[in-house]
Formats: sequence, C-alpha cells, structure tokens
Amino acid sequence: MKKVRKCVIPVAGMGTRFLPGTKAIPKEMFPIIDKPAIQYIVEEAVESGIEEILFITSSYKNSVIDHFDRNFELETRLEKSGKLDKLELVKKISKLANFSYIRQGEPLGSGHAIKLAKNFVGDEPFAVMYGDDVMMYDKPVLGQLIDVYEKRDCNVIGVQEIDPSLAYKYGIIEYEDKDTGKIKTIIEKPKNEEAPSNHAGLGRYIVKPEIFDELETLSKGAGNEYQFTDAMKSLMNKQDFYACKFDGKYFDIGSQQGYLKANVEFALKRDDLKTDVKKYIKGLKIN
Ligand code: UTP
Repeated sequence: MKKVRKCVIPVAGMGTRFLPGTKAIPKEMFPIIDKPAIQYIVEEAVESGIEEILFITSSYKNSVIDHFDRNFELETRLEKSGKLDKLELVKKISKLANFSYIRQGEPLGSGHAIKLAKNFVGDEPFAVMYGDDVMMYDKPVLGQLIDVYEKRDCNVIGVQEIDPSLAYKYGIIEYEDKDTGKIKTIIEKPKNEEAPSNHAGLGRYIVKPEIFDELETLSKGAGNEYQFTDAMKSLMNKQDFYACKFDGKYFDIGSQQGYLKANVEFALKRDDLKTDVKKYIKGLKIN
C-alpha cells in the first residue's frame, strides 16, 4: 500500500460569505489570534506525515504564497534588532514542507480546483484539506484519516455529527454499514428532510488517484459549480469509501460564526491569553 505523502489544499474560492472582509484579503489568511488560518491547516498536514503540499490558488491570493516563502528583509531586520524568537517563528514557516502552487484561472468549484492537481499527485493516494476548515485537536485530524486508509486501503472522508437543521450546508453521508463506517453515497447540500444521516464530510479527505478520471468527466452540481463531492460520489461506484469519525473540533472560518468561535476557543487554549479572555467573557453582561 502506498503511503499518503502529498496534500492538495484548494484556496482559490471567492469567500463570498465573508464579504467585505475577503475583498482584498483571502479568508485563508485571516489570523486566528496571530497566525493565519492556513498555517494551522498546513501544520496539521505536517504533523500527519505530509511532505509535499500543493496550493490551488488564484491571482488575488498571492499572500498565501508569500506566507510560506522566505522574507529576507523581515528576517534581516529581526536579526539586526535581536528579536530572535520572532525570527525563528518566521523562518520555520517556509521549512514546514515542500510547497507548490497552481493557479485556478476561474473559481469554478472545488472539483475544478482539485482536478488541476493531477500531475502533482501522479499515481499516489493523496490528502485534500479545505483551506477554510480549521481543526482543533489532540491528535491531528488528517492523521486520524490516514490511520483508516492504512487499515483498510480505501478512500476516506472525515466526518462529524452536525445539527440536522444545518444538513443543507454540507455533504451528507449515507452509510452502507454504519458500524464499520462503510459509505454508500454522499449527497451534497440536501434538503434537511432528505438528508440520509446527520454525518457530514468536513473538509478532510484521502482519495486514490483514480479520482482524476471522475473529475475529468464531472458535470456542474450544487451552486452551478464543479463539486469535489460529486466526483467522490462517482468513484464510490467503483472503490470503497469509509468515514473517519474524527476526534477534534471543526471551525468553518469561511463563515462569521466559525471564525469568531475559532478565535475564542484558540485563545482559551493559549497560556498567555486564557486568563484575560476568560475574565473578559465572564464580565460580559449577556442577556
Ligand atoms: P468553499 O465553498 O468553502 O469556499 O470551498 P468558497 O467558494 O470560497 O465559499 P463562499 O464563496 O464563501 O461560499 C471549499 C474550499 O475550496 C476552495 C476554497 O478556497 C475553500 O478552501 N475553492 C472553492 C477553490 O479553490 N476553488 C473554487 O472554485 C471553489
């Protein structure tokens, strides 16, 4: 069985739900406290054993490329001013993994974006991590999916239970066997009453390279976009997919609520911030 070494992170979406914030700043670069959301995702990939990362980016997302590159002027200035702890913080980012970039000319959907990774992926299984889905975990969430892949030699979707009244926002899993997690199909953004379960795919996937055959012939789906979920759905007719019900907390930082919650919860985990933040929250007069 081939090891999962490569990861594709699509970051070329428009971020329309978070306008006007995303007009000039990619949502993936929004800081959670003091670190861009995308760095949390890259760190999760690296902690899961990923060595090569491909960003699917766009012409107005160059800040993502800059963030994972060296910045000699900044490094020199930090060194000269003796801010060596900050210098280390900055220098380690570009060393996290081997980074590559491809531009998606037009935001035609996640399926269209991931199709561009074909040459990068070659004939290996690979991970897909959505650039706006940030996880808080003890054990890296992607690593939990890789464990399922290694146990069963299958495609894997990271899932959690969601509030059934929000099913219409997610790719919802229909199980062939709920005990083992074997998936029958996945339905992208169903009507709540038609959702086959309350388990949703949440931005972490392991897929085999045959996914590209499905991406080649993909038609437009929900939102008139090429949906990665639809390509997985086609592949489910030919290969096994299993759900990985992962431990960890999921934040959709492409939504205002998700971004706000991520900032509060990550602050409550930080030794230098948690006391102040707790005091502040307790002091709020909430009706
Ligand atoms: P989303 O649907 O969450 O992102 O896509 P979006 O399209 O930016 O969201 P809106 O506009 O607020 O509804 C999931 C991931 O796929 C990327 C996004 O950047 C996000 O990381 N994506 C989406 C692409 O790379 N290209 C696309 O054409 C669409």
